[in-house]
Amino acid sequence: MRIDVISCVPELMTSFLNHSILKRAQDKGLLEVNVHDLREFGIGNYRQIDDYQYGGGAGMVLKPEPLGQIIDKLNAEVDYNEIIYLTPDGETLHQGTANKLSLYENLLLIAGHYKGIDERIRELYVTLEMSIGDYVLSGGETAAIVLIDALGRLIPGVLNDETSALTDSFQDNLLAPPVYTRPEEYKGLSVPKILLSGHDAKIDEWRHDEAIKRTQQRRPDLLED
Ligand code: 6GU
Repeated sequence: MRIDVISCVPELMTSFLNHSILKRAQDKGLLEVNVHDLREFGIGNYRQIDDYQYGGGAGMVLKPEPLGQIIDKLNAEVDYNEIIYLTPDGETLHQGTANKLSLYENLLLIAGHYKGIDERIRELYVTLEMSIGDYVLSGGETAAIVLIDALGRLIPGVLNDETSALTDSFQDNLLAPPVYTRPEEYKGLSVPKILLSGHDAKIDEWRHDEAIKRTQQRRPDLLED
């Protein structure tokens, strides 16, 4: 999978991309992430990328021309499955969307800043608008990282244990069951006996029951879907 990201603060993204699972995915050639600096397409000597909003009001808006130019350039090289603008008024990201997007070949992400991007870019280029939750971030980069992380780990071969992504919380609309490691007893609390029994079918059943119990207690809304 190839993911291009347009950002005016590319440095914000690089350290995340150079670590852990996302790094491994890129090293294995399963994921390619290119971060493009919007500033390089800025206008004039000052490489201007933002401006005051028409009609007045606090906050700057990303100008259409630099964004249009960089998107045109990328579109000429790559056939994108989706051009995604990260914005608090987009569709909320859920595991189902992540699963679907992880099957695509090429994605272009636009990380906004300030008050957002000129509406005409959304009309002309953007095919999908995504939010990562009902709160406001100061820029789209953190949201882009969240999306790339959620997608990257789903690409076949990225995780060592192939079954691991399938047993994640949310993958079947259930939260994950409790997990334990050694020692068998810690500060008076014991590991549930069933996990020590070696009885795989019974363990699976226990995990499923615990997942349902935990989901009922913490996220009953997930069971209604
Ligand atoms: Cl995608 N961007 C910003 N700026 N804030 C957000 C968000 C995105 N998703 C939730 N809050």
